[in-house]
Amino acid sequence: MGGIERIAVIGAGTMGSGIAQVCAVAGKQVTLIDMGPAQLESARVRVQDSLRRVVKKGGLTQADAEAALTRIHSAPRLDAAADSDLVIEAIFEKESIKAETWIQLESCCKPQTLFASNTSSISITKLASVTKRPERFIGMHFFNPVPVMKLVEVIRGNKTSPETTAAIVALSKELGKTPVEVNDYPGFVSNRVLMPLINEAAFAVFEGVATAEAIDEVFKLGMAHPMGPLTLADFIGLDVCLDILNVLFEGFGDPKYRPCPLLKQMVAAGKLGRKAGEGFYKYEKA
Ligand code: 3HC
Repeated sequence: MGGIERIAVIGAGTMGSGIAQVCAVAGKQVTLIDMGPAQLESARVRVQDSLRRVVKKGGLTQADAEAALTRIHSAPRLDAAADSDLVIEAIFEKESIKAETWIQLESCCKPQTLFASNTSSISITKLASVTKRPERFIGMHFFNPVPVMKLVEVIRGNKTSPETTAAIVALSKELGKTPVEVNDYPGFVSNRVLMPLINEAAFAVFEGVATAEAIDEVFKLGMAHPMGPLTLADFIGLDVCLDILNVLFEGFGDPKYRPCPLLKQMVAAGKLGRKAGEGFYKYEKA
């Protein structure tokens, strides 16, 4: 399997733009694809801001940052991924929408192109099954903020080949990340362990055990977490947390994953966390 030089990133949200950035900084040619022109424009601004922060703290020269930016090409159509060695999909976390996107990508990409989903919990084996290349399909789970967080959780689907895994492990290292290989079961490792923590913290608020602030202080000061679980839940998005808990609950059929009623109610009320201006905490701006 040759090296990965041309990468298409599908979805220009927070994760997609972060992934495009780290690939471009590593010298890859990146096509960032999104149907929405406004999303592509805000992705460019986000990448510029993030590169500025990296330059400011000496992680990159100004010239290298500018060169990285020129390696990111925006496109509004999926067929712009046709020549890629790898497609990384980072779109909305809904299985049917992801599956539909992969079906379209299957029809426009070369047979040897590797397919990777940045899903946070949807089964890689299921997504791979809608394509004709399940052995070249893998999970590549990045963490927010992508330019800062060192981990890539590499998820092997039931039919993912060792060659595909090796290529994605090698690429993750080229991106300056540390890949950790796991198998495809609900929530993989990261969210199988993180989401019950967040859910339990929500139950502690729901039952009046302590305030959100107190719970977060316990984890920041007692366990040296950079953010307490409820600040982190707001950062991730409470809707995303709820979706992942539902995947765990359905996937294992175990009541220990039942989402906290408070979390469900907050999502129903539109209190989705930082992006909505309110979650467990209030924020200045969405
Ligand atoms: N681009 C580039 N650099 C950035 C950045 C960005 N988008 N965001 C932050 N940074 C840099 C800053 O420049 C700063 O660098 P310095 O320390 O060298 O000066 C450093 O990161 C720290 O940033 P700040 O000083 O602004 O703020 P904090 O010290 O509070 O750190 C944080 C912010 C890195 C987000 C930290 O709070 C943290 O690590 N939080 C936990 C994040 C986390 O757990 N993420 C995973 C979420 S789960 C997920 O994504 C998976 C999904 O499936 C749910």
